[in-house]
Amino acid sequence: MKQQVLVARAVFPQVLERLRSHFEVTANEEDRIFTADELVARAAGMHGLFTTGSERVTQSLFAANPQLQAVCNMAVGYNNIDLDAATAAGVMVTNTPDVLTETTADFAWALLMATARRITESEHWLRAGKWTKWRYDTLLGADLHGSTLGIIGMGRIGQAIARRSQGFGMRVIYHNRSRLAPEQEAEANKARWVEKEELLKSADHVMLVLPYSAATHHTVGAAELAMMKPTATLTNVARGGIVDDAALIAALSAQRIAAAGLDVFENEPALNPGFLALHNVVLTPHIASASEPTRLAMANLAADNLIAALTGEVPPNLLNSEVKRKN
Ligand code: 8YV
Repeated sequence: MKQQVLVARAVFPQVLERLRSHFEVTANEEDRIFTADELVARAAGMHGLFTTGSERVTQSLFAANPQLQAVCNMAVGYNNIDLDAATAAGVMVTNTPDVLTETTADFAWALLMATARRITESEHWLRAGKWTKWRYDTLLGADLHGSTLGIIGMGRIGQAIARRSQGFGMRVIYHNRSRLAPEQEAEANKARWVEKEELLKSADHVMLVLPYSAATHHTVGAAELAMMKPTATLTNVARGGIVDDAALIAALSAQRIAAAGLDVFENEPALNPGFLALHNVVLTPHIASASEPTRLAMANLAADNLIAALTGEVPPNLLNSEVKRKN
């Protein structure tokens, strides 16, 4: 008998077909969002789960489903999954690194440039019929070329963003738990490790690319925003919760920093309404990895992991290798 797999969200039809050639698949093509409790019930009898960053996979899901062998997340981030509980329950967990690195770095730049040069604000202004004459000081923004980019979180995506900054003649400073090797720093446009406080005080553009965890919750709050230059921008392509949204709204409305570009939010897809009233913020709906080839590659990689996990192979992106040894 084929093993049972739940694909918790709508996904590319060709990826669903691939999974159907290996498993008995329960799909969710109508793309209903399951609450954590609903997901526990839907996981009944399942050997594998295909999830995205929107599903919360909790300890109670593992407790109620001892038959479960693998949870394969279609995302590089996996803060939606209780990894320790999965490991304790002997369930393999996988993510989708690498395939989204360059696409996400491209998008980080799109968001930073839109933020620094007020692109969306300009378009709204123009569409509202306000462009009646040229003026020397209309919609003045901040320069990127020659400025200092401060990257907090210098993993694969942070390094890809840093490499791109060379074309703009920027200096790169970064803060990360651990320092990169000298050759990695050299490749990342000669990035220089600094303390978080120094980064916040001296960067013209602060870019957040760190994973979310209890330790990184509100990495940027009121105190950190107060350290930034009044002309600086803040861009977040990492996770909601890394920034204290209420504190950011207060700082943006008081123009204590110049502008922000945000692809992720606390409690997304619900948005703090304070953002909608502001002109100096660019808002996008968690689309940094959303190019057609990259989303397809992510879905296929999650499927590769699921197929490997349930057919006795080591999944290519196993996060808790101690589970593999247990089985
Ligand atoms: C996904 C992401 O779009 O990979 C991640 O961690 O944040 C995005 O690429 C999202 O999480 C959907 O799973």
